[in-house]
Amino acid sequence: MATAHPFWLAGRQATGDDTLDVTSPWDGRLVGTVSVPTEAQVEEAIAAADAVKDEFAATPAHVRANALDHISRRLAERTEEIAKLISAENGKPMKWARGEVGRAVSVFRFASEEARRFNSGEAQRLDTDPGGVGRLAFTRRFARGPVLGIAPFNFPLNLCAHKVAPALAVGTPILLKPAPATPLSGLMIGELLAETDLPAGSWSVLPVANEHMEQLTKDERLPVVSFTGSEKVGYAILDTIPRKRVTLELGGNGAALVLADFSSEKDLDWAAQRIATFSNYQGGQSCISVQRVIADASVYDELVPRIVKAVEKQVTGDPFDDATDVGPLVSEDAAKRVEAWVDEAVKAGATLLTGGKRDGASYAPTVLADVPHDVKVSCEEVFGPVLTVTKADGEEAAYAKANDSKYGLQAGVFTHDLQTAFRAQRALEVGGVIVGDVPSYRADQMPYGGVKQSGVGREGVKFAMEDYTYERVMVLTGLDL
Ligand code: SIN
Repeated sequence: MATAHPFWLAGRQATGDDTLDVTSPWDGRLVGTVSVPTEAQVEEAIAAADAVKDEFAATPAHVRANALDHISRRLAERTEEIAKLISAENGKPMKWARGEVGRAVSVFRFASEEARRFNSGEAQRLDTDPGGVGRLAFTRRFARGPVLGIAPFNFPLNLCAHKVAPALAVGTPILLKPAPATPLSGLMIGELLAETDLPAGSWSVLPVANEHMEQLTKDERLPVVSFTGSEKVGYAILDTIPRKRVTLELGGNGAALVLADFSSEKDLDWAAQRIATFSNYQGGQSCISVQRVIADASVYDELVPRIVKAVEKQVTGDPFDDATDVGPLVSEDAAKRVEAWVDEAVKAGATLLTGGKRDGASYAPTVLADVPHDVKVSCEEVFGPVLTVTKADGEEAAYAKANDSKYGLQAGVFTHDLQTAFRAQRALEVGGVIVGDVPSYRADQMPYGGVKQSGVGREGVKFAMEDYTYERVMVLTGLDL
């Protein structure tokens, strides 16, 4: 029997009493066995983070920046190997897995750059009023305390990077809990962190089972919790620790709006291609994948057949095949849930334009029209390769349809008109509006997060760094200014 992968406890490798098997969603083969920390080991990691927090906060920016830069370079050097790991544990096609590694390279590089820029402080004159004569405010940011980062399975490397890199950049310890289905990519970040000279207790990677997460979430020594995952779990965490600083990156049912001016053959081909690609990338398992297409009535009839054609061209199959666009979902259960939701929609009167078939953990790229408003594929997050198409009479109606959702993460607006772009930014109740493209665009340095049930707080390296810290003002008095 192969030995279990150790986890990372306060910067060193450790093994616990229990193990967790990681299997490929594509063929069920065993990808690895991971050791799971005991309660005592989790306590040790928390205590180490708490003990080192002041020392770590005092490390010079260049030390933290160099460590982050090292991780960025090592990820780049090992891209192919790490992409294979992501693909094996998550089922993500290699082309998307390579892209994910490239994004993580950028995340650590941005964090390295931000670590050097961050916290030079801001001076503010106070003699604007008589009581402030001779006084100057100087504000710098200080860490709230060690961060607990809880990462999901859908971007097993890059969404771990989004927890770890900003914490290290501000000099606050991080305890990372990767998703139980995909812990190997998070442990790989640990492997690279172990090559740096960051203080030992400043980081741990703990593949704790979800059922045992409360030991971490409730611990007072971890005042910041940054969670990415489902709405249900995210709000359950928030409800148990309302006094902590909690960032939630939750679900979405991303809308792509194709407006009347986006009507040439070239426009419609582009929109259809982008929609087909990004409703199916990673089997639709992205919070910003395209789930709802809202097309102006004047372009609908021309657009929909193009979308169906482009969706049918998506190559499904073995994630290790470079030609594959769409691999399996994370598990057979996930695919069965998607199947049940599509069946529910069809029974309620939806028209299946393509797809609608399951094979084990794989679900065929699917397009539905005439979908009733109250079925799950309309109002919940599908997290599968399923797209609904609907018609809107004009721009305002399109915004209203897009906003008719409990979620508000990102939206894409296909238009050429700058005034329309600004109107869309004003009208759409989301954290991000992408003009001329799908909602699925994310640059890792931008603010990323939602409104409504899509969560609270923002990621994007600099924005997470702000979230992990707070302003502390110092007032200097008696100055001859
Ligand atoms: C997510 O699923 O929330 C992350 C999407 C991304 O990082 O592209």
